[in-house]
Amino acid sequence: KKIPATLIPGDGIGPEITQATIEVLDALGTPFVWDPQHAGVGAYEATGEVLPPKTLESLRRTGLALKGPLTTPIGEGFRSINVTLRQMFGLYANIRPTKTRLPGERYEGVDLVVVRENIEGLYAAMEHYMPVADDPEAVAYGAGFNTRAECRRIVRHAFEYALQHGRKKVTLVHKANILKKLSGLFLHEGRRVAAEYAGRVACDERIVDACAMELVIRPEAYDVIVTTNLFGDILSDLTAGLVGGLGMAPGANIGEKMAIFEAVHGSAPDIAGQDKANPVALLSAASLMLVHVGRADLAQTLDRAIEEVLVQQGVRTVDLGGQAGTKAFTEALLSALKN
Ligand code: NAI
Ligand code: MG
Repeated sequence: KKIPATLIPGDGIGPEITQATIEVLDALGTPFVWDPQHAGVGAYEATGEVLPPKTLESLRRTGLALKGPLTTPIGEGFRSINVTLRQMFGLYANIRPTKTRLPGERYEGVDLVVVRENIEGLYAAMEHYMPVADDPEAVAYGAGFNTRAECRRIVRHAFEYALQHGRKKVTLVHKANILKKLSGLFLHEGRRVAAEYAGRVACDERIVDACAMELVIRPEAYDVIVTTNLFGDILSDLTAGLVGGLGMAPGANIGEKMAIFEAVHGSAPDIAGQDKANPVALLSAASLMLVHVGRADLAQTLDRAIEEVLVQQGVRTVDLGGQAGTKAFTEALLSALKN
């Protein structure tokens, strides 16, 4: 059965890693029928809009997308395009799995998932600042919000994810000792939802700073982490760093009616157009997308081929200490898939 999906190559290294990913997916034989669309700074230069109406229409129609990184133009009035997409389509859950794929590196046995609330918290910050030049008394002020309904929805999502993916424990990560109201609501509602899963999925709690330390010392102690927007942003970059960095980290933005799969990293302007980008993050995002549409079989074949190339063959891009370019890595992956 064919599945229509929007494809947004994006900016910077986006087109290179997207091309690599599509070549590999074509070789794999996936059900996706791609509708390529523009977004980001490239779209802005071409159409005057970072998110052209055609792109939004395509997303509404397919409800499913694979997206490269987007550069938000710098300047007054430009809000992060990624944040806009999440808000516009209610993509409330950001799922970022982290798994050791390079044995013998810094961390063995990491296999955890960060479930990050994606539309509220301090990311929805209402900020105020009086920009009086060089005023020594200047004050910047920001406030976020969490709603009871969203706290419940994101924690429920984490527990349902745990059940569906055979995971044993969910850790509620918070800062309710300091942000007694903002983070307190999340913890309170999180505990209530957790109680409904008692006996099926275990639950524990960590304060975010202690969690950051423990993730460095013994990441294998974690299974599923669920947390609010800003903490999830920071912790998921930390966990990506445990297993080889941003070039390896995929993410999924999930809403009630839409799911957008992406690499966690940005457009990497420093290496764009130089055949240096690691396509594994976007390839892994495509693998999550396959699981999402019920093709875990294809996802597994893809993951195994990536492992074969990275580990058995030792073909790696520069960010992983290797010498392969994006194209050479992709070629190695295509031949691994043939065998
Ligand atoms: P970045 O993630 O683009 O780059 C950080 C560092 O990691 C750079 O040294 C880069 O070369 C390296 N890197 C990232 N991905 C890599 C890959 N696949 N292979 C090898 N090396 C890789 O973050 P930065 O520089 O802060 O942001 C650049 C632009 O990307 C900004 O315009 C930002 O707004 C945008 N951005 C977009 C995101 C998205 O679309 N999801 C997420 C984060 C940033
Ligand atoms: Mg981030």
